[in-house]
Amino acid sequence: MKLWKRLCAMGVLAGVLGVVAGGVLAAPLKPDEQMKFRKAGYGFMAWNMRKIKGNLEGPYNNDEVAKAAAAVAAVSNSGLGALFGPGTDQDLGEVKTRVKPEFFQQPDKVKELALALNKEANELARVAATGDAGAVKAQFGRTSDACQACHDRFRKE
Ligand code: HEC
Repeated sequence: MKLWKRLCAMGVLAGVLGVVAGGVLAAPLKPDEQMKFRKAGYGFMAWNMRKIKGNLEGPYNNDEVAKAAAAVAAVSNSGLGALFGPGTDQDLGEVKTRVKPEFFQQPDKVKELALALNKEANELARVAATGDAGAVKAQFGRTSDACQACHDRFRKE
């Protein structure tokens, strides 16, 4: 009986903690947090793209390329667009941004370029998993072009 009560109390506590944790996760990000997270996401993709480039130029490690390509695809698919909310169009204290105002005025074009990256990054992950370095090289070029297309249009120098 006592044990049963304790288990019940633990269940209630776990439920309460779950609600609290859920509440924290669901809390909207502040503008400076959104900016930090999106820059981290882009930087993380860049690191993984560099790893793939290094492999294409030097000794080719199948496993490293496959993991890096999967990471780029995951970040690209993660919905970075959600991190460009109101108030994230300008520097906020220490957190600087290079996003152009046009990014917020042309959502359809942004979406098109973001979806283009998703498509190329997912294909890069797919070919990287097969271990075909030639196919990875070609698809790496298409993926980099998709990054560049958005930067040319929506990122300041
Ligand atoms: C749909 C548009 C878009 C696509 C696609 C895109 N980027 Fe960007 N990227 C941006 C914007 C906008 C910024 C500026 C973010 C800011 O400063 O707030 C940025 C910033 C960056 C930065 C600088 C991050 C920092 O710390 O300031 C890097 C690095 C980067 N992108 C790499 C990439 C790579 C690599 C890819 C492709 C795998 C890519 N981006 C695809 C729009 C895009």
